[in-house]
Amino acid sequence: MSNALYPGSFDPVTYGHIDIIKRAARIFDTLTVGVLNNNVKSPLFSVEERVKMLQTACAGIPNVSISSWQGLLAEYARQAEVDVIIRGLRAVTDFEYELQMAQTNKKLNPKVETVFLTASLEYAYLSSSVVREVAAFGGDIGIFVPDFVAREIYLKLRPEGVSGRAEDKDTDNEQ
Ligand code: COA
Repeated sequence: MSNALYPGSFDPVTYGHIDIIKRAARIFDTLTVGVLNNNVKSPLFSVEERVKMLQTACAGIPNVSISSWQGLLAEYARQAEVDVIIRGLRAVTDFEYELQMAQTNKKLNPKVETVFLTASLEYAYLSSSVVREVAAFGGDIGIFVPDFVAREIYLKLRPEGVSGRAEDKDTDNEQ
């Protein structure tokens, strides 16, 4: 059995993450998607909210489960008994940070390997912070995230709603 862990902030989950999840789930027997906090980021969504969105997004993929962890990734991998950590690489700019993270995790937990999946071309530009920024200015984020995620983002950032936007049309609980 090969068990993999795909860790990240997922603040919020995007189509880019979902693409990596689907592809990793085809390669490994089980895939745990793990929500962690990156200390240098101030998240828009709580860990519980991020887990819930991922559960909905991955509901149709049988060998994928969602969990969360407070602490070191290397320790999480040990506790979860995974052999592999999955990370998505979008561009060469990701590489330096990812290499350092993979090497640090290998030192802390020699049993775990990091495997990189290259982001699909159509999502190579995508990041959660770009999605949040476009939403903050009222732009259309429907091409970046599933509709239910778009609604959650608008409810957080623009609780008054944005008239005319596709994501708002069936959102009837604006505060
Ligand atoms: N498609 C689209 N976007 C992608 C992507 C893909 N395939 N892969 C990564 N991204 C984006 C994310 O949306 C995110 O964008 P943002 O910064 O604009 O929000 C960015 O790339 C990278 O974020 P993420 O993958 O969530 O990683 P991270 O750097 O925020 O955190 C952790 C990674 C949580 C695993 C790391 O912080 C961690 O390990 N924390 C625990 C503490 C620890 O062990 N520290 C030592 C690590 S060596």
